[in-house]
Amino acid sequence: MPVIVLVGAQWGDEGKGKATDLLGDRLDYVVKFNGGNNAGHTVVIEGEKYALHLLPSGILTPGVVPVIGNGVVVDLAVLFQEIDGLEARGVDTSRLRVSANAHVIPSYNRSMDKVAERFLGSRRIGTTGRGIGPTYADKMNRVGVRVQDLFDESILRQKVEAALSFKNQVLSKIYNRQAVKPDDVVKELLSYVDRLRPYVGDTALELSEALDAGKVVLCEAGQATLLDVDHGTYPFVTSSNATAGGACTGSGIPPTRIDRVVAVLKAFTSRVGEGPFPTELHDKFGDHLREVGHEYGTTTGRPRRIGWLDLVMARYAQRINGVTDFVLTKLDNYDDLDEIPVCVAYEVNGVRHDEMPISQSDFHHAVPIYETLPGWKQDISGCRTFADLPKDAQRFVEFVEERIRARISVVGVGPGREEVIERHSVLSEA
Ligand code: IMP
Repeated sequence: MPVIVLVGAQWGDEGKGKATDLLGDRLDYVVKFNGGNNAGHTVVIEGEKYALHLLPSGILTPGVVPVIGNGVVVDLAVLFQEIDGLEARGVDTSRLRVSANAHVIPSYNRSMDKVAERFLGSRRIGTTGRGIGPTYADKMNRVGVRVQDLFDESILRQKVEAALSFKNQVLSKIYNRQAVKPDDVVKELLSYVDRLRPYVGDTALELSEALDAGKVVLCEAGQATLLDVDHGTYPFVTSSNATAGGACTGSGIPPTRIDRVVAVLKAFTSRVGEGPFPTELHDKFGDHLREVGHEYGTTTGRPRRIGWLDLVMARYAQRINGVTDFVLTKLDNYDDLDEIPVCVAYEVNGVRHDEMPISQSDFHHAVPIYETLPGWKQDISGCRTFADLPKDAQRFVEFVEERIRARISVVGVGPGREEVIERHSVLSEA
């Protein structure tokens, strides 16, 4: 004990790295429990920028055991690319553990992802094209390939053949693509077996033993609350559970062992891909926040859609995840603004909604109700305590805190590791 779950409160890219940096030396294990290489965070090693998509962030912290849980979908080519990239820079990756129950993303699911998006046309989801959705679909359809299958060639062949007997019909007859040869897929997957073997284990058991021994475990979500397949803005979501509940199913850690749930909330909102976005900005404020916040996708390079902070969504994230602590990031991105509108409720067809509307079409038609707070018009990146912040920035933080039903324990005031104000330890109760 303890287990801390870290989630994103919006549509991703909230800056979870701020929280992991802060917790870094207090952690023993960092577990990725959902998603795959659709996520992305940029790390700087000896002045060189490096984008990680699949490996848990803990891979960079000496002494931390990074774990790829059973709930993750693993593209083995990407896994070894990232391992090789880090090893070449002198990072030791030998502590990595990979669940034998995690599913692998065979190359045909990357093709399926891309052709399906093209086929959907204007109804596309705007996926990252990494094969995430088709691989989770295979898992639920019980035609997926798991990491453990790679260690038994005849089982692997059977599974790949079974999956392709259907998919090849779809690829050739619906999407007009060439059928995929099972042999090619099996050969590619088997090419990773020897390198993979030392990392693979019963990670649920290993985590349980670690907790019994008093270790500190962080379960870090990929994506975020509003991209969760159950609780997000379906169908414009990813295909896994990115909320706190997913930490249990995706790692094998039971709910009774979770102590803290930390949600990262960006001081404004961003989204990549399609789907409704009530506070979206199409004006100079959106452009300004995109530029000062460097809001371009790490995985796809796409410019992110930008909007004002939405507290209906933040309250929802608190409720769905049982958030105990918020980390408010990028407060400094508002330094130049005269005033800052914050969405406190929606209006849908003349009716005020303080909570997320139940139907997706109401959410599509939601018009934000804003309260406008004064800006502080000064550089706050040097502030290290709450009292250092200008009064209007303090007021902004308190205004948000009063409306999201959990304390704001950490405030990010700049991109650097040290550019934070820690008001409370996220490891301790209020
Ligand atoms: P998929 O996860 O590739 O299937 O994409 C589904 C949706 O989730 C798309 O709108 C993606 O842009 C979005 N998405 C997936 N991963 C991330 C992420 O790490 N940050 C933000 N959006 C993401």
